[in-house]
Amino acid sequence: MKHLLSLHDWSPEDIEKALTLAEKLKKEQKEGIPHPLLKGKTLGMIFTKSSTRTRVSFEVGMYQLGGNALFLSSNDIQLGRGETIYDTANVLSRYLDGIMIRTYKQSDVEDLAKYGSIPIINGLTDLLHPCQVLADLLTIKEHCGSLKGKKLAYVGDGNNMAHSLMYGGAKTGMEVAVATPAAYKCDETVVKQAMEDAKETGAKILITEDPKEAVKDADVVYTDTWVSMGQESEKEEKVKVFGAYQVNKELFSLAKPNAIFLHCLPAYRGMEVTDDVIDGPNSVVFDEAENRLHAQKAVMVMAMGE
Ligand code: CP
Ligand code: NVA
Repeated sequence: MKHLLSLHDWSPEDIEKALTLAEKLKKEQKEGIPHPLLKGKTLGMIFTKSSTRTRVSFEVGMYQLGGNALFLSSNDIQLGRGETIYDTANVLSRYLDGIMIRTYKQSDVEDLAKYGSIPIINGLTDLLHPCQVLADLLTIKEHCGSLKGKKLAYVGDGNNMAHSLMYGGAKTGMEVAVATPAAYKCDETVVKQAMEDAKETGAKILITEDPKEAVKDADVVYTDTWVSMGQESEKEEKVKVFGAYQVNKELFSLAKPNAIFLHCLPAYRGMEVTDDVIDGPNSVVFDEAENRLHAQKAVMVMAMGE
């Protein structure tokens, strides 16, 4: 059974297959060619955090594949009142063909996969955001022509996006340079695993505190909010530390002249990125957001298709 819990679990071939299928499904969608590959299937979507892109792209994607999607807010299901992951996984496995879950703990997503008998897709945890990175890789491929050897600079918080970008870049032979403040570094286990993944593909992972070093000659510049969901109380403290990590025109100018700017969104203009960058000619953030739809359709077909 194919889960998507972390890109670390996927082989380079799995990722390539997902991207190729996403390109095919995108083309078919644009040309009006029906592709009901999940006819009669139902995806449950559990959310314990907010979402615009993930919720809408999974729901619309399932519809376009001929299936149905059920929005399950944790406020409304018994999980939010203390029913265990074990019982939830067992019960939902009797009704659904797959589950997409957005929650806090990565271990909850892994437990759902362990105890249930249907494919589980990670729609974001505090640790990882693999679906976003598949869409990002698709976007980079479209705009830069290929992934291997391309330099991606991530500047900002050592968060779920930084982690999944490291895995995704490592698995596809990219050069990933991550610049974070000393107090907000990436998870050590993730860095270690990404470096191991990189050895297999010839990818490079660079960890630094210097945003200029990361962005220098990059093909792709990426940032994300400094304050992730669930960290609202840390905002004041974080804003003080992250000033030098803002992606503004000056920092962006160190990248290659044709470099693209990516952001998973939602963005906070004037904080992690300035208007002139995110709304500038090199920004492809809305192509990136659209690609959530196409990439996730590929993931769902790989997970739930025949
Ligand atoms: N990028 C992303 O996951 O967006 P949402 O939080 O709106 O789903
Ligand atoms: N790092 C952000 C990503 C949002 C898509 C968060 O976890 O809130």
